[in-house]
Amino acid sequence: MRTQVAIIGAGPAGLLLGQLLYKAGIDAIILERHTGDYVLGRIRAGILEQVSIDLMDEVGVGQRMHKEGLIHGGFDMLFKGQRHRIDMNELTGGKHVMVYGQTELTRDLMEARQAAGLTTIYEAGNVTVHDYDSAKPRVRYEKDGLNGKEVHEIECDFIAGCDGFHGVCRASVPHSAIREYEKVYPFGWLGVLSETPPVHHELIYANSPRGFALCSQRSHTRSRYYLQVPLTDKVQDWSDEAFWQELRLRLDPEARAHLVTGPSIEKSIAPLRSFVTEPMRFGRMFLAGDAAHIVPPTGAKGLNLAATDVKYLSSAFIEYYREKSEAGIAHYSERCLRRVWRAERFSWWFTGLMHRFPENGEIGQKLQEAELDYLINSEAGSRSVAENYVGLPLNFGE
Ligand code: FAD
Ligand code: DHB
Repeated sequence: MRTQVAIIGAGPAGLLLGQLLYKAGIDAIILERHTGDYVLGRIRAGILEQVSIDLMDEVGVGQRMHKEGLIHGGFDMLFKGQRHRIDMNELTGGKHVMVYGQTELTRDLMEARQAAGLTTIYEAGNVTVHDYDSAKPRVRYEKDGLNGKEVHEIECDFIAGCDGFHGVCRASVPHSAIREYEKVYPFGWLGVLSETPPVHHELIYANSPRGFALCSQRSHTRSRYYLQVPLTDKVQDWSDEAFWQELRLRLDPEARAHLVTGPSIEKSIAPLRSFVTEPMRFGRMFLAGDAAHIVPPTGAKGLNLAATDVKYLSSAFIEYYREKSEAGIAHYSERCLRRVWRAERFSWWFTGLMHRFPENGEIGQKLQEAELDYLINSEAGSRSVAENYVGLPLNFGE
């Protein structure tokens, strides 16, 4: 088999890249180790920045998103038992974000890919990448045959590593060619999805002495809530009742009174990590999305960064095939990393501001509250939060 771009991973990064390339007439095959249903079953991100909304429109799959997505022009920060609204719209000259689940975005992209008759190989086993330092990279995988182990090979011009944090592409690069920066936080997020109306029409980010809480949503009838929990906690330790009880204790009296509880549809614990790989290009192999970087989820940046990486990557490939220029390819890593580090900085800072760090003691809590008090009362402070949350422009600083 031969293709122009072999994409590893059918998460948001791989699927969006596939669609951007298809629109530009560039041939690509996606290899995914799981089934499509498994990929759709992972409940993850919920907030799209304008750049991600624009990309969905650019590839022609934005109809359902505009119909069902909820526009949010602000969010609440809760501390010392009181809520304060950050008016993103007002503070950024009219910008907003959209509540639209990663599951929905993934479904829209998968359906468009299927409708266009494009090749996605699901349940591709033992994917390996070869010769990406040469002009003729190859990808091998196992599928079909005896025990699903027949080996297939794809020849390609480029490999796009969109295979997430635990993927094979980054892991295939020799240690001497890569630098990794990492911070692991001493807590995780316990998330619950429930068929209940959201406690508030916008998101609430709560700093409480008992730990961080986030009230999010997927629709007017479906809520997504998160609690900061010790890394040692297991999902089984948390009954639905215990979850709702702890959430109540981290909210203000009004939200507590409005909280509608119900059975959880999904419950999981995600560890928090800041992680960046430098560079993001190795010869003819490129990393994009979680394969190259992880942000702690507090700033809602992970999915949005994956989207901008593949926007830059598709532009580079388009330039290569249409104009025979390698300029975009040469600048890909540097261009992405500048945006990545900005989002890493915001996500790290927002995580530090909102979570309980027991090792910082009571003074840590007091200092966070003083900073929050400053931020909500200073226009400059509030604007800084707002402009980072809605996402800095693609050409910021250029
Ligand atoms: P993934 O979604 O991880 O996709 C990678 C794909 O590659 C997977 O389908 C995987 O099965 C496949 N794969 C892996 N290895 C191989 C292999 N060897 N061979 C073939 N296929 C392989 N981001 C936001 O922007 N906003 C939010 O509000 C937000 N909230 C979040 C909340 C939680 C609880 C979590 C966990 C994450 C959140 N994120 C958020 C982050 C966001 O979900 C990720 O950044 C996003 O999924 C990255 O997409 P991706 O395509 O790069 O990687
Ligand atoms: C959601 C997740 C986030 O990390 C965040 O900052 C906001 C919302 C969510 O899953 O809805």
